[in-house]
Amino acid sequence: MKNIAIFGSTGSIGKNTIAVIKNAPEKFKVKILVAKNDVQTLISQALELNPEFVVIENSEHFEELKNALKNLKNCQVFCGFEAILDVAKIHCDLMISAIVGSAGMLPTLNAIRAKTNIALANKESLVCAGNFLKKEALENSVSIIPIDSEHNAIFQIFENDNLDLIDEIILTASGGPFFNSAKKFSEITVAEALKHPNWQMGAKISIDSATMMNKGLEMIEAFYLFPISKKQIKILVHPQSIIHGIVNYADGSTLAMMSLPDMQVPISHAINYPNRMKIKHQKLDLAKLQKLEFFEADENKFLSLKICREVLEVEGNAPAILNASNEIAVERFLKSQITFDKIPQIVAETLNKIPYKKLDSIDEVMLNDKLAREFAKNLNL
Ligand SMILES: NC(=O)c1ccc[n+]([C@@H]2O[C@H](COP(=O)([O-])OP(=O)(O)OC[C@H]3O[C@@H](n4cnc5c(N)ncnc54)[C@H](OP(=O)(O)O)[C@@H]3O)[C@@H](O)[C@H]2O)c1
Repeated sequence: MKNIAIFGSTGSIGKNTIAVIKNAPEKFKVKILVAKNDVQTLISQALELNPEFVVIENSEHFEELKNALKNLKNCQVFCGFEAILDVAKIHCDLMISAIVGSAGMLPTLNAIRAKTNIALANKESLVCAGNFLKKEALENSVSIIPIDSEHNAIFQIFENDNLDLIDEIILTASGGPFFNSAKKFSEITVAEALKHPNWQMGAKISIDSATMMNKGLEMIEAFYLFPISKKQIKILVHPQSIIHGIVNYADGSTLAMMSLPDMQVPISHAINYPNRMKIKHQKLDLAKLQKLEFFEADENKFLSLKICREVLEVEGNAPAILNASNEIAVERFLKSQITFDKIPQIVAETLNKIPYKKLDSIDEVMLNDKLAREFAKNLNL
């Protein structure tokens, strides 16, 4: 039986993970549940799964959580970010790293240091601190198994083949709700941007998909996950979201991984790796679909892609600044404080403002994250 820690259990990935686990409860024991605000969902998850540790970040919900779980046997309940960092140090067989944003970085680092393997949804931690997390994972013999559908697809393809003959990898992108839209970016509403054509996801990643920042972040994530050069990472818009990742080999072979757009597929692969498990899923019917389309991504329309490519080129503190300023810009857009077109502009301005620097430690990553947040919060364009 695998001991599992779910960080971000109340979110879209967290809930999908629990749904996958329910296919084979005899294989998994949920040991730790972590969330921030959604105390009602956390309570019902804890009552159902009986974990050993439950942590809520926001202390305002602590009393309610404690009272609701007081009759649970062998269950300790905590609150606050320090408690999240502490429970991340408890060794488990696998952590589902599914907190959104760079808030997931230090818990993931602590889990790696506790020699817990990582099923990684929280791409932001690899974007901000890819080199450091990779080094720690290597030193602690920890595997990082991607949950992001595109990276999970490439991971599955790489499993069977020799890595020295790779020409390039292709991450597919749905293109989001505005790929084919002629609507002016300054007039896009929050509701329109949240409405993803293919995937049901949390608010932040939905907006990232609409700006295509998500694909840019994934490009950086891919560089840190796989033994490839920056130039070998390509993006292809594929509106049907059936093919998630493609690898072109030097012998002319092209391997692709397909599934319906359902996050339970990559989650199931990641939590069972190196094995597979039967889950309830809708069958992919290619005859019914009839066509799979592919287009070049337009980096002039989706500026975030261009910014991410430039950031990946220079690395240093740029990825941490990119990520933090994007988190703030998305938050401001969701609160209707800025228009949709300002999101990449805030990111670009923040990158211009904070001097470029090579980074030597996670502390420096955190410092740049903080500086970028402060600047992006106060920027008026
Ligand atoms: N959703 C997808 O299909 C998908 C696909 C690929 C990758 N990802 C990645 O997976 C991550 C999660 O995405 P999501 O869509 O599941 O997001 P989401 O639905 O917004 O859920 C985020 C989770 O993180 C928790 N959280 C946020 N800040 C926290 C903090 N400071 N401390 C502790 N917990 C915190 C939230 O708790 P509360 O709900 O209690 O506030 C929630 O459980 C992101 O990095 C995203 O890019 C998601």
